[in-house]
Amino acid sequence: MSKPINIGMVGYGFMGRTHSNAYRKVNNFFKTEYHPVLKAVCARDAEKVKEFADNWGYESVETDWRKLVERKDIDAIDICTPNNLHHDIAIAAAANGKMILCEKPLSMNAEEGELMCQAVEKAGVVNTVWYNYRKVPAVTYAKQLIDEGRLGRIFHYRANFLQDWTISADLPQGGTALWRLDAAAAGSGVTGDLLAHCIDTAIWLNGGVQNVTAMTETFIKERKHTLTGKVEKVGIDDACAFLCRFDNGSLGLFESTRYARGHKALYTFEINGEHASIKWDLHDLHRLQWFSHKDEGPLRGWRSIHVTDGDHPYMSHWWVPGLQIGYEHSFVHHVYDFLEGVAKGTPVGPTFRDALETQKVCDAVLKSGKSGNWSEVG
Ligand SMILES: NC(=O)c1ccc[n+]([C@@H]2O[C@H](COP(=O)([O-])OP(=O)(O)OC[C@H]3O[C@@H](n4cnc5c(N)ncnc54)[C@H](O)[C@@H]3O)[C@@H](O)[C@H]2O)c1
Repeated sequence: MSKPINIGMVGYGFMGRTHSNAYRKVNNFFKTEYHPVLKAVCARDAEKVKEFADNWGYESVETDWRKLVERKDIDAIDICTPNNLHHDIAIAAAANGKMILCEKPLSMNAEEGELMCQAVEKAGVVNTVWYNYRKVPAVTYAKQLIDEGRLGRIFHYRANFLQDWTISADLPQGGTALWRLDAAAAGSGVTGDLLAHCIDTAIWLNGGVQNVTAMTETFIKERKHTLTGKVEKVGIDDACAFLCRFDNGSLGLFESTRYARGHKALYTFEINGEHASIKWDLHDLHRLQWFSHKDEGPLRGWRSIHVTDGDHPYMSHWWVPGLQIGYEHSFVHHVYDFLEGVAKGTPVGPTFRDALETQKVCDAVLKSGKSGNWSEVG
């Protein structure tokens, strides 16, 4: 008999929807010892949060997250708020003995992130950060290929995350949906928002980062602030490119911008090893491009693997071989891994500690972007 884990979710925006969808679907496809129960959702607008709760099937609502984290009938707090609230909610949730699922980036900076790690470790509560791209079957499969040593020594890691939605100078900063342009709410721009995903995947696939040299730019220097109504200085990085050295001696090249006209969410990575290379593209997320130098003769070339067969990660739980799944399923897999972690007593990755490593790289990137010098990852 499966046991309940009562979820209390804070925030009902984009991620509130992806997580709610995942909690609802997971046990239709995955058998687990524990199952999530949509116990409560919290946001400041009572009417809107009630509407959200009714739509997704939450049993109750709260308008103050402090009340939510103290509720005895809540087992796990899911943090889906802007980045500047992650720290306070997580610390309070840990103090109340709650398991925590926190959206990425873990925190505004590594200092805050360290305190969050200490809090969950002291409380001994299960914790995870939603770096969900790890849970895309093709990306998980890339991890398997690397761990099996099929690429051999790795020389290069290359990643991009390109968007184009902030090009207009009329777009204000701050407030609903636009908090990402406000440094006080977001911490940083593309570095914490988009490159954090690339860095998490990179560390998972290729190991730790030693040092970085970065170039950041804020193309639109001032924007009206939605909350104050005044034109204010923009404090986020609109674009960032950085080079890095990994602990394994390989070289990294990363680029992210919200000014690449035509690109909505182009997350790609490519890894070049001694024996083979792999490439992945979020727009074609169920495919892994593979080139093996061990293939012989004139038929040697790039292969496009449709990662939809029963022996591919997670796929035996879905449809029949050859039929693909999509973006939202990465969140279902994340919940499944979380539930398995709770059952087995082994932490599910990425944990807060794992996500802190990404945060440290982000901090080093931003520091280097300002100084123009190489920066060590602390
Ligand atoms: N894993 C991913 O791929 C991914 C994608 C997008 C966003 N994110 C992360 O998820 C988090 C949320 O982003 P989003 O896109 O869902 O943002 P969003 O703006 O769509 O939603 C934010 C929610 O937080 C709520 N909120 C704000 N202040 C609050 C408060 N004081 N108390 C209670 N609720 C409050 C808002 O009402 C809103 O419902 C961010 O940390 C972001 O970086 C992750």
